[in-house]
Amino acid sequence: MNRYGQGGYGFFTGMMAAGFLLIFCNTSMAQGEHTRRAGAQLQVISGDASRLVREPNMLPAQRKGLEDRLRGAFAGLPVLLRLADQERGLMNEIPSLTFRQFAARLANDQPGGVVQMAAELIKKYPLLLPRATGSPVRARTIHNEYCAACHDDPDLSVERPAFNLFKQAKRQPVNEFLARMIIGIRGDRVTGYGNPLNDTELSALVTLYRTAKN
Ligand code: HEC
Repeated sequence: MNRYGQGGYGFFTGMMAAGFLLIFCNTSMAQGEHTRRAGAQLQVISGDASRLVREPNMLPAQRKGLEDRLRGAFAGLPVLLRLADQERGLMNEIPSLTFRQFAARLANDQPGGVVQMAAELIKKYPLLLPRATGSPVRARTIHNEYCAACHDDPDLSVERPAFNLFKQAKRQPVNEFLARMIIGIRGDRVTGYGNPLNDTELSALVTLYRTAKN
């Protein structure tokens, strides 16, 4: 099993095999990479914690998967925000206590408190939408070649399922969905934080998922 929980080879390996069709760098960004990633991670934290609030009857396995993912996100947050501060020439802004409070609220079954804390931080670390607009045809090709196999008809009973991206995009505010596209597509552990999609591809995919039926 890989981190996607579906066995087989990882997304990144698949792309390597396919010959690096996607470009592995982000150019022409409106926001620095660290600043963007910090903003995106906060949006995902907020969205995941909101789901815990809104869906008390979620399958226990999915709840556990979501809580695990949140704990992982909290662990990475101090570094992400520090890098974002450095990139913007700011001093270390967030006291370390804040990070412990996130974990404490989750442990005390207060996901609403996590949402509130994230909202405060999102004011300091907003996520800006990419300015680029990409080709719908290209987006469809990327989707069919690299995403459809796992996302179009996913097994929702596993701890961390792949969701249908067309449905997810229409349920969520555009910033939250974009944030998930920034944080969620990262291949496997080898690639770490890198997102293989550039801005043009990202925004074309977001538009495709939000507008096409499937
Ligand atoms: C090998 C299977 C696989 C492939 C290929 C794959 N994904 Fe995923 N994806 C997953 C799984 C499983 C998750 C859930 C991971 C988790 O919860 O940590 C996920 C998570 C995501 C998320 C985050 C969802 C959320 O709720 O936060 C997004 C967005 C996403 N994928 C988009 C894509 C796109 C776009 C592509 C193609 C460029 C792609 N994925 C390719 C399996 C895959």
